[in-house]
Amino acid sequence: MDRTVITVDGLAGTGKTSLSKELARRLGFVHLSTGMLYRAVGYLALSSKIALEDESAIADMLSQHTLSLVCDDSGSARLLLDGEDIVDALYAPEVSEATSKTAQLGAVREALVEPQREAFAGKPLVAEGRDMGSVIFPDADVKFFISVPEEVKVQRRLAQLIEAGHAKTEQERNSLKEKMKIEIHERDVRDAERNLAPTLQTDEMEVVDNSSQPLEKVVQNMYNLVTARGILPCQDPPSS
Ligand code: DC
Repeated sequence: MDRTVITVDGLAGTGKTSLSKELARRLGFVHLSTGMLYRAVGYLALSSKIALEDESAIADMLSQHTLSLVCDDSGSARLLLDGEDIVDALYAPEVSEATSKTAQLGAVREALVEPQREAFAGKPLVAEGRDMGSVIFPDADVKFFISVPEEVKVQRRLAQLIEAGHAKTEQERNSLKEKMKIEIHERDVRDAERNLAPTLQTDEMEVVDNSSQPLEKVVQNMYNLVTARGILPCQDPPSS
């Protein structure tokens, strides 16, 4: 590989984005959240009213649009769809839902291989997703796999929902917790067992437990491991 690539994989809700963003910032590398590219496909399919399982219509739709990546002031990638920054629209719940379906289509995964591999060519990269170390960057210099026990994910999600004003009584909280348990478990099983590009933890990946220490400490451990392998912070970071 003609540049340094660090991959960060893991299931949903493990904190991959916060960790990889902060790791990239400390190293002065570009941070690429590849979920953005998949989300753009879900977004386009929804806005074009294409059935989410219609693989050939979605492939056709993709061939009519341009996805390009630019780096923002913080060193993170932002996505332009036909030249327009649409990142904020990509995180709406209905786009997340649509994306979980369109991301499973072979034509979509195939169409996104090159854009991911060629993103910010020549620049050191922290690439985050579900199949970075296993499929997209098999020769990456360091491969991390972020892990959080399901029970902790349930607690965190519940806390977020309560904070947002959901489930005010004890009874409502208990029933929301049971619902979250099932939803999170089913989503993780789906992600880990799907036929195409399942979220895989391979032997060469460094497993990072993100359930018990503060973000700063977890990132520091990741940073120490990267630098111990002789990878040094970039002298000319993307945001400078
Ligand atoms: O990481 P995220 O929540 O932004 O990902 C959005 C969706 O895209 C989610 O359904 C998982 C999927 N995805 C994927 O299948 N492969 C990737 N490399 C990144 C994301």
